[in-house]
Amino acid sequence: MSSSLCIQGLTASVGGKEILRGIDLEVGAGQVHAVMGPNGSGKSTLAHVLMGRPGYEVTGGSVTIDGVELLGLATWERAQAGLFLALQYPVEVPGVSMADALEEAVAAAGGDRRDVVERLAAEAVRVGQDPAILRRAINVDMSGGEKKRNETLQLGVLRPRFAVLDEIDSGLDVDALRMVSSRVEAATTEFGLGVLAITHYSRLLNELHPDVVHVLARGRIVDTGGPDMATELERTGYAAYGGDTEEPVTGAGGAGDPAAGGDPFADPLA
Ligand SMILES: Nc1ncnc2c1ncn2[C@@H]1O[C@H](COP(=O)(O)OP(=O)(O)OP(=O)(O)O)[C@@H](O)[C@H]1O
Ligand SMILES: [Mg+2]
Repeated sequence: MSSSLCIQGLTASVGGKEILRGIDLEVGAGQVHAVMGPNGSGKSTLAHVLMGRPGYEVTGGSVTIDGVELLGLATWERAQAGLFLALQYPVEVPGVSMADALEEAVAAAGGDRRDVVERLAAEAVRVGQDPAILRRAINVDMSGGEKKRNETLQLGVLRPRFAVLDEIDSGLDVDALRMVSSRVEAATTEFGLGVLAITHYSRLLNELHPDVVHVLARGRIVDTGGPDMATELERTGYAAYGGDTEEPVTGAGGAGDPAAGGDPFADPLA
């Protein structure tokens, strides 16, 4: 049986407001699934709920890696089960260097901490991170791009089974973007990494080739398609998935068609 991250009927609220309204997704080992969708649709909430960030109330569903339930586990236990999250806004960790943190993480997972320095140096080259940065406190006073390279470095050293990348491309210049996305793509074959890549832009997906693209809108996966869907979405936007109806409205007679109860936000003069 091939390994998989399986999300079923996942619902969650924050501050008493339901944000995730039934997410079903299955990512196999070595696969790349892109998740796109409008601002505020619940993409980062999904990422945080998967990793067990406090403050989110999971109200239903399940998240498993090879049948092992992750919901209810502490974040570090989810990490040990093979899940990794690259944050949209990486946190600063004063007083702790990347090598210190990764040595502890590798040792806690039963690996050899003596391997870390060498692996970290190799990963730094692969994402173009200045080695001097690795001796500084994690992310403190670092540029947006340096922080995103740091997230990718950790992924390379820790070699998780599944990685959720929340806008790993935001803040990266074009060269960094190419290095980061090709590093992640290589991981899918090097160690069979399964990827859930949240992004607003198809440019991430030029090197990181998605098998599937999903649209997340108002807390639900409202559409799923092939890799070409990313460029199509960039062209069309999310109007076809908009409105305040409970069910997604797509295709002819859908969005923008008042007779079909389409997008109430559509420009009436268009
Ligand atoms: N702690 C919180 N308290 C109240 N509302 C919250 C909280 N965290 C998130 N939300 C709300 O949940 C909704 C989904 O937010 P989320 O960050 O998941 O969106 P997103 O899809 O990642 O958007 P973006 O593309 O802008 O990153 C937003 O309306 C947000 O304001
Ligand atoms: Mg987000």
